[in-house]
Amino acid sequence: MQPAPFPVGRPRRLRRSRVLRELVREHELSRRDLVAPLFVKEGISQAAPIASMPGHAQHTLESLRKEAAELAGLGVPALLLFGIPAGKDAEGSQAWAAEGIIQRALRALRADLGDDVALIADLCLCEYTDHGHCGVLAPADPGAVGEGPVVANDPTLELYRRVAVAQAEAGASVIAPSGMMDGQVGAIRGALDEAGFGDTPILAYAAKYASGLYCPFREAAEGAPRSGDRTGYQMDPANGDEALREVALDVAEGADMVMVKPALAYLDVLWRVKQAFGLPTAAYHVSGEYAMVKAAAERGWVDGERVMLEVLTSIRRAGADLVVTYFARDAAPLL
Ligand code: PBG
Ligand code: ZN
Repeated sequence: MQPAPFPVGRPRRLRRSRVLRELVREHELSRRDLVAPLFVKEGISQAAPIASMPGHAQHTLESLRKEAAELAGLGVPALLLFGIPAGKDAEGSQAWAAEGIIQRALRALRADLGDDVALIADLCLCEYTDHGHCGVLAPADPGAVGEGPVVANDPTLELYRRVAVAQAEAGASVIAPSGMMDGQVGAIRGALDEAGFGDTPILAYAAKYASGLYCPFREAAEGAPRSGDRTGYQMDPANGDEALREVALDVAEGADMVMVKPALAYLDVLWRVKQAFGLPTAAYHVSGEYAMVKAAAERGWVDGERVMLEVLTSIRRAGADLVVTYFARDAAPLL
């Protein structure tokens, strides 16, 4: 469709008043699309603010419950939960311990909030392993040079299966594997089904990039790799077609929802994924994206509230049904 050329066509006619602008607005950000990430840490007696993420903290179980109730009160429909255990080991066994911090948090929040809020459990091992990688390490190859430790794919899947069942037993509404191991969705789907959780959906971090924008998160979740990096399992930021293959694999393995992460630098990927699959699609506006807006706003360099609403709306426009964002708390009252 070609618009009538000027001077018959005058696009500004529909921008002349607020009511007309709102009448023709194409996309809307709603609080019902927001997912709020929260961190709970074992063994602390009061919430510990996260310096690089103003407004966020590592919570105690008690402060987590308070924060979750407030978010629910603001109409935020879903929480994405991360646990930080008091003790770590090579396998990350606290991730599936029945009395592990994340399981305790899930039970407490389920008891507090009933079915009013979806509790999405992030499933990974990097917060739980002493080496900080997202799975178990392969035995060191004496001939290898430079690249750092290698995460062993298939043995890691066995551990993910345990975590998924433990999280579902503790009351998770949705399981969200974020480790980027091959076959993780299928492994988790199988484990959940065998344990009687055939109705628990999977939100797959399907296209997750090896991004520099996760830095504040690694402070928050204490999950930075002690050596090496995640380029051996997370995606190369230069790749777009590969994201479609990753999503196709996860869909074939049983993903109910898929995620692209980070958001703003990957809006093209988000668009392609939504167009190609038409599945419920999430985008994760990650910690570094949040921190950049907060830092610039603190300096008075941008209007923080305005930029927040602009970027969250752009993520919706690019095709996200769900927006995972540290801004959930700030944005919800404005929507
Ligand atoms: C762990 C995980 C990360 C994030 C979510 N889950 C960090 C990483 O992969 O290093 C990042 C989220 C954010 O930056 O907000 N698998
Ligand atoms: Zn991880």
